[in-house]
Amino acid sequence: MLKDASPPSCAGSGRARGAGLRSWCGTGGRSRPPVPSSQNWQPWDFILITDHGQLRELARVWRGAGHVAGSAAAIVVIGPAADNEFGRARFDPGQATMTMMLAAADLGIGSCHAGGADLQLAREVLGFPENRDWALIISLGYPAGRPLAPIRVPARRPLAEVVHRGRW
Ligand SMILES: Cc1cc2nc3c(=O)[nH]c(=O)nc-3n(C[C@H](O)[C@H](O)[C@H](O)COP(=O)(O)O)c2cc1C
Repeated sequence: MLKDASPPSCAGSGRARGAGLRSWCGTGGRSRPPVPSSQNWQPWDFILITDHGQLRELARVWRGAGHVAGSAAAIVVIGPAADNEFGRARFDPGQATMTMMLAAADLGIGSCHAGGADLQLAREVLGFPENRDWALIISLGYPAGRPLAPIRVPARRPLAEVVHRGRW
């Protein structure tokens, strides 16, 4: 659970917090490289939400987005409608998302994805334009009652199963 008290880095002005936000936006904070994208097209926009009423509204865009309601803040990653045959319109915002989540973890801030299924509601709450038709939410906050810690045994497919050498 992401506790909702004291929004973590979004409103902060400290040096570490500033570095985190710069890297979140892919503009290359001093401590991190900028996020790469296909032909450097940077097909992303980010909407930072810290208002609790708006967070609660946003939580209604998808049945798996309940955690957004009680989070301290959320970043909505907005992507383009048009894609190419390599799926870069989803891949590149995915890289930005992962970079932001790692930057958050570095600052002790927990994060979780949520899909943005009800785009009409998302548009009403956030006001992004019609030519953007993809939104994914990252909820953020300090974990309630404990510091952020790595999952000791993450449920992941074993390496030997997912890595193919030379040929499938
Ligand atoms: C593209 C994507 C969409 C996701 N959507 C949701 C979601 O809508 N709601 C949610 O609670 N978690 C969502 N997740 C989080 C995954 O469920 C989570 O990363 C996965 O279960 C692994 O969890 P673990 O790291 O705690 O093992 C999403 C993850 C990804 C990569």
